Amino acid sequence: MDLKSKFVVAAVVAALSVGTVNAAPLVIKFSHVVAEATPKGQAALKFKELAEKALPGKVQVQVFPSSQLFGDAKEMEAVLLGDVQFIAPSLSKFDRYTKKVQLFDLPFLFDDIAAVDKFQHSADGKALLNSMTSKGIKGLGYWHNGMKQLSTDKDKLKRPEDVKGLKFRIQASDVLEAQFRAVGANPQKMAFSEVYQALQTGVVDGQENTWSNIYSQKFYEVQKTIAQTNHGVIDYMVITNAKWWDGLPADIRKGLEQAMEEATAYGNGVANEFNERDRKRIAEAGKAKIQELSKDDVAAWRKAMEPVWKKFEGEIGKDLIQAALKANK
Ligand code: LMR
Repeated sequence: MDLKSKFVVAAVVAALSVGTVNAAPLVIKFSHVVAEATPKGQAALKFKELAEKALPGKVQVQVFPSSQLFGDAKEMEAVLLGDVQFIAPSLSKFDRYTKKVQLFDLPFLFDDIAAVDKFQHSADGKALLNSMTSKGIKGLGYWHNGMKQLSTDKDKLKRPEDVKGLKFRIQASDVLEAQFRAVGANPQKMAFSEVYQALQTGVVDGQENTWSNIYSQKFYEVQKTIAQTNHGVIDYMVITNAKWWDGLPADIRKGLEQAMEEATAYGNGVANEFNERDRKRIAEAGKAKIQELSKDDVAAWRKAMEPVWKKFEGEIGKDLIQAALKANK
């Protein structure tokens, strides 16, 4: 080693011994499939802000929105492989890992997001966060989006019979598949990132989603009618790799836990407001008609979708369904 190299080595050793050279921060990737201006998009950014503030120099959180890093098809495997540390799939996308979470897909189970929130905070709701630990997945919290609306490229969309024979894009959920079959429609499972094009080119006639997703993905530009059905919910579970999480230094885990709790409160606090804002924007754009429903219309949808409950109550569990229903009171 020449003199200059020896000098450099000595300087590095000295710096390390007095602690002036810091270890590189732990890079944490958070991938999701929606736009930034949505409840999930904003909650993920809030988590980054809070985690980096709580753990300065120790963590760097990189957020990847709009399926940029991983889309629906790959994100779960990516968590298990350690290619990404946090994702927040909709609760409809877990049925390969647990049948219990399918609960949230039962049509007309919850009256509104307040009821969803109440159930998620109950002992039964919290237990579901740990329903996939045997598969290596840990749930860290629930994030709200909102109630689902139904849209098609047809002028008439008011009663269940109006969707007979139509093709609908659905998330990867057997319950949602049964829901559309119950009203005589043809469901097609498809990744979120492919929906706009499928609607635009007529591969499918319609879809179901929240106002915030319908607006931010511009679905309202390629659909004629959006019926205000509120027939189900799109919420999320933030998940991580259980082994990675348990192996984190205690101070980092604690800081991340705290940041997650605060980001959850923030995101869940703005979700309703975002959906109302986006409903208004869609109405103002005047491209798709918003079809309001009478009590009688809603009752007809509810009745048509009822068989789905019977079909899945064995897998989900009658007790869990009863516990969820209590949250409506
Ligand atoms: C969908 O796939 O329709 C949505 O659930 C996407 C999302 O994450 O909101």
